[in-house]
Amino acid sequence: MSYVEVEYPRDKEGFYAMLRRQLALYMGDETDQTARLANASAVIAQAFPDANWVGFYLVDGDSLAVGPFQGKPAVSRIGFGKGVCGSAWKERESQVVEEVACFAGHIACDCNTHSEIVVPLWRDGEIWGVLDMDSVLPGHFTQADRLGLEEAVKLL
Ligand code: SME
Repeated sequence: MSYVEVEYPRDKEGFYAMLRRQLALYMGDETDQTARLANASAVIAQAFPDANWVGFYLVDGDSLAVGPFQGKPAVSRIGFGKGVCGSAWKERESQVVEEVACFAGHIACDCNTHSEIVVPLWRDGEIWGVLDMDSVLPGHFTQADRLGLEEAVKLL
């Protein structure tokens, strides 16, 4: 399938409807988790041009291991409750961080990052990983993004 550039609507409802369509298209009937998450990270990165890192951390025992992503090399392991990702896992809820310098315990991977959103991935009532997205812009991710992404990641 060759990638067709899509224009994302500016309004959040239209934007997330388009994002879900794109994710559904690239998930298709693919069953391999790496294949699915690799394309999901690429689809989401295309939709968020101001994100400097988009990817997944996946539960592996008592820590999260980095999964498919788009961006600079990043920390490979994050402990339960550590950083923004480990906090989302421990608190069992999404984290929206307007300014990472103000988040105690934030794990810096790119000193250009200002804001971050982390959304848990759920299966059968358990978290199996998180979507992590960083932006160079302060306050880039909103509660509307949290809701939109929480819905979108159900397709993964
Ligand atoms: N900032 C994250 C670490 C991962 S990088 O952002 C890619 C955290 O605090 O969990």
